[in-house]
Amino acid sequence: RLNLNSRIIGSEVKYYSKIDSTNTEAKKLAQMGEKEGTVVIAEEQTGGRGRKGRAWNSPFGMGIWVSVILRPQISPVEAPGLTLVAAVAAAKAVRNVTGLPVKIKWPNDLMLNSKKVGGILTELSAEIEVVNFIVVGIGINVNNESFPEELREIATSLKIEQAGKEKLDRVQLLCELLHRFEEEYFAFITGRQKEILKQWKGLSDTLSSIVRVIGPSSIIEGRAVDLDETGALLVEKEDGSVERIISGDVSLRSI
Ligand code: ATP
Ligand code: BTN
Repeated sequence: RLNLNSRIIGSEVKYYSKIDSTNTEAKKLAQMGEKEGTVVIAEEQTGGRGRKGRAWNSPFGMGIWVSVILRPQISPVEAPGLTLVAAVAAAKAVRNVTGLPVKIKWPNDLMLNSKKVGGILTELSAEIEVVNFIVVGIGINVNNESFPEELREIATSLKIEQAGKEKLDRVQLLCELLHRFEEEYFAFITGRQKEILKQWKGLSDTLSSIVRVIGPSSIIEGRAVDLDETGALLVEKEDGSVERIISGDVSLRSI
């Protein structure tokens, strides 16, 4: 039982010991008509996913692997805004519970001391111009003590980065996350995008740094100067022109 402060987000919780991916399960449930706010959580994911079909390491009992079903009345182009909502909620929740200075790397990574501590995967089901449902998946490495070889240099957990290296209470963190998520989601659906953007900017690890944006067919380099209303990143190139980058298929490197 979760002792939640949120009303809609987490009003129904589907808990699994082991599942392929909470996002996949949440999409199935949403397809069958599951209501807004239902949350799917698992102790372990055998097929946890990142963007572009990449694998997300989700060992048993170590992290928060959670997906939220949303049914906002928005157009599909606004959907990336929910990745910002989730990122702000997750960063605030971690900061509130642990005091650790988690930052957001555009578009969907949570960073701690330059390593990846979490990520967000937003998936959309829409007809032309109308959103049917959106699943927002959040993964946070909480009590992981080590990572597989290929992640060792790039991944970390809250426990590893904590001074005392004590185990953290995942339930407390999850409750705080769902509470903060609800707060930011309400801001989003009531048109308070500016407030979310402002918070996002305050938590950003990306703005004002020099970045290389690697897309499917081109590479852009420049200074990340701002985020626009839809969550697109504005990159100012050396010649002074500004490119608007939407999150789709790009990877970002700080250089
Ligand atoms: P980049 O911008 O660096 O290309 P990305 O944010 O596009 O990365 P995603 O596809 O969003 O990458 O995330 C998946 C990647 O995250 C994997 O390819 C892997 O490198 C890394 N990863 C997988 N599991 C974890 C984990 N538990 N913690 C941190 N990083 C992980
Ligand atoms: C990324 O950095 O690419 C995003 C990783 C998102 C991982 C979470 S864990 C819960 C949810 N279920 C998944 O399969 N992925 C997301």
